[in-house]
Amino acid sequence: MIARTIQLTYEHRVLFTRSIFDPGNRVLRDLVAEGHDEIHRPVKALLVVDQGLATADPLLEERITRYAEAHQEVIRFTGTPLFLPGGESCKNDWNFVERIWERIHTDGICRHSFVIAVGGGALLDLTGFAAATAHRGIRHIRLPTTTLSQGDGGVGVKNGVNYFGKKNWVGTFAIPYAVVNDLDFLRLLPPAQRRAGIIEAIKVSLIRDRSLFEAMESMSERLANLEEEALETVIRRSAELHMNHIALGGDPFELGSARPLDFGHWSAHKLEQISGFRLGHGEAVAIGMTVDLIYARRRGLLSAEDEQRALALIRAVGFDLYASELALRHHGELVIVRGLEEFREHLGGELTITLVTGIGQAVEVHEIDTTLLPQVLDEMALRFGAPQAGDVPASRVA
Ligand SMILES: NC(=O)c1ccc[n+]([C@@H]2O[C@H](COP(=O)([O-])OP(=O)(O)OC[C@H]3O[C@@H](n4cnc5c(N)ncnc54)[C@H](O)[C@@H]3O)[C@@H](O)[C@H]2O)c1
Ligand SMILES: [Zn+2]
Repeated sequence: MIARTIQLTYEHRVLFTRSIFDPGNRVLRDLVAEGHDEIHRPVKALLVVDQGLATADPLLEERITRYAEAHQEVIRFTGTPLFLPGGESCKNDWNFVERIWERIHTDGICRHSFVIAVGGGALLDLTGFAAATAHRGIRHIRLPTTTLSQGDGGVGVKNGVNYFGKKNWVGTFAIPYAVVNDLDFLRLLPPAQRRAGIIEAIKVSLIRDRSLFEAMESMSERLANLEEEALETVIRRSAELHMNHIALGGDPFELGSARPLDFGHWSAHKLEQISGFRLGHGEAVAIGMTVDLIYARRRGLLSAEDEQRALALIRAVGFDLYASELALRHHGELVIVRGLEEFREHLGGELTITLVTGIGQAVEVHEIDTTLLPQVLDEMALRFGAPQAGDVPASRVA
């Protein structure tokens, strides 16, 4: 055997700014200029932009053009931006991967150029994947434009698209050159989507950071009203905790089975799916966390006081704690329970579920007592649901 150790150091950074495409804003320009002396400038960059964002912000393209003119000595956008539809559908269509590769190819984007993605988490996952696989990896800058992606998905190191009908089946771990959160983009989001990022911040506070949880309690009314300053505080801290997890948690490329940041997600993913995506990701995570908080209390892992406190905050910032889909059964079995098996498959290896044991504290468990789940769901219906006449209690076997 000949063995050598390969040591690599990565810098993972998230910058916060406003009006990124204002000609006077130097954030993007300075990032691109780094490491390229004057002889090698201007540096080529391909912009991939979320069409949903561009529709919400009709002046975006014009601003990009003016920005490009102002900084043409340093950065050269190759042609017009590539506009692609945002949302999950862009990850379901392989043609979009090829469309990005094609532009990388025809625009002569090389390993010293940049691919810059501007959009929601889905468009970032798609573009990140195309950039990571072209020429074995092109420098990639991400500009997340939703609250969810600015505080959670967009600041991560994963990319991917859906394949074989499975989410993120093809993808890579690739640390972006930089992530830039421009808080101005969030103003364009509809209220439900602006709210969605708050739930991931509650999630990470519950498992990791009591002080963030308490800060969110004290500004819960402002968060419920989607006040900008409160949202910013929460996104910033949430992004920081996610980065700490990646950089300091010991498993940046997820080789083990533990996924603490997926707290509340095993049932949430299933709920999104069985509701036909009536429930968005944030709404489903709020309910998924409720399932796991009540389960933890019933297992004696979490005090009733902390359980109530956690649920009160989720509710105070504007999320429902119950959805009728929780009671759906197939051949007598609760459909939601299948989420556990799917989650195990997704982790590979052993089922590992994070449960909260106190505000800011969590444990990993490898088993969920599924006989307890119907009682958990019945309790949720009783405490938080408005059951319709004829609803079947979850505990009753059909
Ligand atoms: N890579 C990761 O680590 C990671 C982690 C979590 C989630 N994700 C992925 O992120 C995706 C979800 O991302 P998301 O929640 O950001 O939503 P999204 O990307 O699905 O976008 C939702 C909608 O908002 C539009 N949009 C984007 N920015 C806008 C703006 N500023 N104003 C108005 N409309 C705007 C989009 O066009 C789209 O229609 C999922 O595919 C999920 O798998 C990835
Ligand atoms: Zn999530």
